[in-house]
Amino acid sequence: MSRPENAAALVTGASRGIGAATARALAADGWPVAVNYRSDRDGAERTAREIEDAGATAIVVGGDVADGAAELFDTVERELGPVLALVNNAGVRADGLAIEMEDDAWQQVLDTNLSAAFRLTRRALRPMIRARYGRVVNIASVVGPRANAGQANYAAAKAGLIGMTKTIATEVARRGVTINAVAPGFIETDMTADVPREVVNAVPARRPGTPDEVAACVRFLASDASAYVTGTTVYVDGGMSA
Ligand code: NAI
Repeated sequence: MSRPENAAALVTGASRGIGAATARALAADGWPVAVNYRSDRDGAERTAREIEDAGATAIVVGGDVADGAAELFDTVERELGPVLALVNNAGVRADGLAIEMEDDAWQQVLDTNLSAAFRLTRRALRPMIRARYGRVVNIASVVGPRANAGQANYAAAKAGLIGMTKTIATEVARRGVTINAVAPGFIETDMTADVPREVVNAVPARRPGTPDEVAACVRFLASDASAYVTGTTVYVDGGMSA
C-alpha cells in the first residue's frame, strides 16, 4: 500500500544534527514534516525554512518529548494531518561512571531517550492502524548493543529502544505499520563535539559519519519501499559494529 495523501511526518529534536537532516530528507521524499524542538526555536525555524525553500511543507512544533505526547500530536494533526511517520530522534547524554552516576543523570536519559519514544509511539499507533499505514523509526545507537564505559544510562536506554522496537513491530505488523531502529555509530554533530577525534581509529571507514548519511537510511525506512522491513535495526556506523 502506498502512503495516504494526507499523511504527515513528525521528527523529534529536529532543530539540528541528525533530526534536522532527517526532517529535510523526509520532506524531499514528499512528506509534510513537523519539526519538533525543545528550546532551540531558531534552529527549528532554520530547518523548516530550508525545507520550504526546497518547495516542500514544514511546520515547527515546540515541546519537550519527556513531558508527554498529547499536545504535540494534537498540533501536528490539526495543522498537517495524521502522523503516519514518526521519527523518535530526540536524545541526550549525561555520561559518568556507574559508581558515581546520580539518579538524575540516569532518569533524565531514560525519560528522554526511551520512555518518551514509547509514549510517542503509543500515541501514534491508533491513527496509523486506522490508516493501515505507518512508519516508526527509533534512533538508537551502536552503544547499547555494545558497551561504552561511562554510558550505562545511555546504553540502557538505547538497548531498551531496540527491544521495544522489535516487540511493538510484531504487535502491529499485520496492520501495515512498520517499526524499525537506526543505530548510528560516530556521527559528527553537536552531541559528539567533545568526543576525541581518535575514535575514528575504531571505525573501519576511518571517518565520522554525517547526519545526512543517517537521514538517508531513515528516509528509506519511512518510504513505501520498506514495507516488508520491520522489527530490525539498521547500523549506520562505517562498519564499527561489524
Ligand atoms: P544533537 O544533540 O545535535 O541533537 C539532539 C536533539 O534532540 C537536539 O536538537 C535536542 O534539543 C533534542 N532534544 C533533546 N532532548 C529533547 C527533549 N526532551 N524534547 C525535544 N527535543 C529534545 O545530537 P544528534 O547527534 O543529532 O543526536 C540525534 C539522535 O541520534 C539522538 O537520539 C542520539 O542519541 C542519537 N545518536 C547520535 C550519535 C552521534 O554520533 N551523533 C550516535 C548514536 C546515536
